[in-house]
Amino acid sequence: MSGNLRIDLDRLMGRIFRLGEIGALPGGGVKRLALTDEDKAGRDQVTGWMRGLGLTLTTDCIGNVWGVREGAEALPPVMIGSHIDSVATGGLYDGTLGVLTGLEVVARLNEAGIRTRHPIAVGFFTNEEGARFAPDMMGSGVNQGALDLAEMLTTVGIDGRTVGDELDRIGYQGEAAPGTLRPACFLEIHVEQGPVLEEEGVEIGAVTGVQGISWTEFTVSGVSNHAGTTPMRLRHDAGIVAARIATEARAIADDLGPPQVATVGVIELGPGLVNVVPEAARLTVDLRNTDDAVLQGAEARLAAAAERFAAAEGCGLEARTLARFAPVPFDGDTVDLIARTAEALGHSLKRMPSGAGHDAQMFAPNCPTAMVFVPSKDGLSHNIKEHTDPEQIRAGADVLLQVALARAGVIETAGGTP
Ligand code: GLV
Ligand code: MN
Ligand code: MN
Repeated sequence: MSGNLRIDLDRLMGRIFRLGEIGALPGGGVKRLALTDEDKAGRDQVTGWMRGLGLTLTTDCIGNVWGVREGAEALPPVMIGSHIDSVATGGLYDGTLGVLTGLEVVARLNEAGIRTRHPIAVGFFTNEEGARFAPDMMGSGVNQGALDLAEMLTTVGIDGRTVGDELDRIGYQGEAAPGTLRPACFLEIHVEQGPVLEEEGVEIGAVTGVQGISWTEFTVSGVSNHAGTTPMRLRHDAGIVAARIATEARAIADDLGPPQVATVGVIELGPGLVNVVPEAARLTVDLRNTDDAVLQGAEARLAAAAERFAAAEGCGLEARTLARFAPVPFDGDTVDLIARTAEALGHSLKRMPSGAGHDAQMFAPNCPTAMVFVPSKDGLSHNIKEHTDPEQIRAGADVLLQVALARAGVIETAGGTP
């Protein structure tokens, strides 16, 4: 019976560890920033596995790749996907778990000779992380019509290269246009990347949606001058303006309380010397909240404060939005199906929102979409120590397999399901 079908944990873990060798960092973890040589090598590995499983591959014009296992009927596919790019200090599981579990689902169906009504597609999406090129979820956003292709191709990364040039260089600029992929539903399994499941001793998260994400880059211009001779009252110190913006971001999160979060992940000063008043500063602020009205209030307070700090110091200020995504609810029926499936398999369950952005959120407006979370040890992610126990991965992957089968529809044979 297809209801008894389970993933092969050794094969799934083997693929996770093999992919983790590509861009491996000393001490563990990976660095596979989007569209770098390491990302290309990861793509080559995964597309090789896809071909080996007999999938028919498509690459689109922003470098997303998906492979399709035929269904018995001419229906849109049930899609399983995520990403294989990483931040510069990435773990082995962020994104890769979703893609490689999709491959494991296909491998098990192939072995068991199971035909499904809907085709099953497994994909990875370009630059989910946004760590090299902002915004994040770039590939899935373009694919699903939320982001403009031409604008994304000309996006300049942290190293001065553009998305279009880098796609071309690594040979992953395909032909398929945005809108080519219209799945019947979208499923993604991902590590939680936070502490909740572990703290509460719960095995599976049924993700109800993703919180709103706002990224802003502030550039401050002042005047560099001698650190010893310039009286404090005569300074135009870009660095102190940046520092005040950073502490204001923290104060906003502290004042609003959970679920508001605020992060200053980049702060750079120029010229960056011990005895020179900084003439330039650049910093990024990441604000997130599940409530868009509250998030908008946080953004407005930060913008007004930044203007005030710059004016008080006689500095120039520019603010640029790097990413802005409203909170996204997932499909209630699919969330329920995940919850029921997890419980039927004997796992404890929690319905929860996602704190991190995910490719699934780009599909959610266009097709029924939901996600499965598994626990993250010590709540760590975007950290080389990111870890999830194999048995926790088994639990989540089995849930995903059964949910995919339920959505794809198994063709029963005369003698029962093979
Ligand atoms: C993307 O992974 C994000 O949530 O920053
Ligand atoms: Mn991820
Ligand atoms: Mn990530």
